[in-house]
Amino acid sequence: MKDKLHKILVVDDDLKMCELLSDILNGEGYSVTTSGNSLKALKILKEEEFDVLLTDLKMKGMDGIDLLDEAKQVAPLTPVIIMTAFGTIETAIKAMKMGAYDYVLKSDQMDELILVLRRAMEHRLLKKEIISLRRRLESDYRFYDIFGKSPSMKKVYETIEMIGDASCNILITGESGTGKELVAKAIHNHGERKEGLFIAVNCAAIPDTLIESELFGYKKGAFTDAKSDKRGLIFEADEGTLFLDEITEMPQTLQAKLLRVIEEKEVRPLGDTVSYPVDVRIISTSNRDIKSSIEEGKFREDLYYRLKVIDIELPPLRERKEDIPLLVQHFIDTISKEMKKKISGISEDALEALLKYSWPGNVRELENVIQRAMIFSQTETLLPIDFPDFVIQKKGKNLLDKAVQERYSFEQLLKEYIKKMMIETGGNKTKVSEILGIDRKTLYRKLKEL
Ligand SMILES: Nc1ncnc2c1ncn2[C@@H]1O[C@H](COP(=O)(O)OP(=O)(O)OP(=O)(O)O)[C@@H](O)[C@H]1O
Ligand SMILES: [Mg+2]
Repeated sequence: MKDKLHKILVVDDDLKMCELLSDILNGEGYSVTTSGNSLKALKILKEEEFDVLLTDLKMKGMDGIDLLDEAKQVAPLTPVIIMTAFGTIETAIKAMKMGAYDYVLKSDQMDELILVLRRAMEHRLLKKEIISLRRRLESDYRFYDIFGKSPSMKKVYETIEMIGDASCNILITGESGTGKELVAKAIHNHGERKEGLFIAVNCAAIPDTLIESELFGYKKGAFTDAKSDKRGLIFEADEGTLFLDEITEMPQTLQAKLLRVIEEKEVRPLGDTVSYPVDVRIISTSNRDIKSSIEEGKFREDLYYRLKVIDIELPPLRERKEDIPLLVQHFIDTISKEMKKKISGISEDALEALLKYSWPGNVRELENVIQRAMIFSQTETLLPIDFPDFVIQKKGKNLLDKAVQERYSFEQLLKEYIKKMMIETGGNKTKVSEILGIDRKTLYRKLKEL
């Protein structure tokens, strides 16, 4: 019942005043919290949502103006009403210029205050409605930082909406650069777990020998280098999200331990004799070959089902080309701001070329190509000449001829070869490492150098 009441936070260092207001407003049916100290009030505001903040102007320490300023940051939707004595009206007006909703004179009758409170609450509801309306309009082509209006991306937005605060594990699949991490962050930020941390662990980038102690933590003396206790990343993600990138690269012994974490909801650090409860939601990613990893016996099927309570598949960019113009404009806007370079759009024939290209590196490749073009561009509009040949579909030179002509070192040749293979395979790292006869971790390192 209490939650249904309108909530007011009253701040005044005169405790008698707090008491008086609390009595009167309670009598009017409001739920009132009082605080005699504006720093404490700010803390309360961070933790709880109020319909109105009613604050005194002159207080010891942080005064009403400072509190207003901070409150605008932490609770932008909560209207602030300033209470003031007659002599400080000028400051009260200044407060209104700074975004206070209204002010009331302490000497006024209480019904004046009640009236202002009621108006402030209506104002807040209206503001909320406008925001949700705007969100709904925007969500047609954008969800948080994810841009795209193709049916497949809209389905992704709907799934994230549907997940809401639910804590189920989620598996995101899709080729490299399709936005898996971006989507994972949007899921985290959309639910109440945003109050906790988003901890990202790339299972392919951490050596097998380290990943266990990184994830689970250890007790001092658990092994030679364990000089003191260390909290594992799973603990860091308590009440938040643990993002396990490239989950198929997780060593098998650890897969069993992870399964136990999910089932028992507890973690035992290395060298410890007891387990500790944790509340994490796992979002993991994999490129599409997770099924073959299972068939080959490299990935536990039971873990797979625990991880993909909900699965989200991000299609490659070449299968949702209608998103390209939108993404191009988004990247032009953000990059031109970063580079402080005045570039506002792209010419039709350049865009046409981008639409024809197959984007093996997906959105990441598109972002890089736009960024590169913006560095080279001499005009306010990006033109075909600003883009590399392979995008504009002119025939490139044979790699080996080019290597001989330009006297490539072995390293250079290898890198070019890897690049070509990544393009050929649509960014499938497992396939590329097979073709090259190197393991995935080595390939990963090379790609990083690239
Ligand atoms: N729909 C999108 N809207 C805007 N930016 C996007 C979108 N998809 C991807 N990006 C951008 O492209 C880049 C790659 O995205 P991200 O890192 O999420 O891909 P990924 O699927 O995790 O790739 P990988 O498998 O290589 O780790 C990032 O800079 C991201 O911001
Ligand atoms: Mg990623």
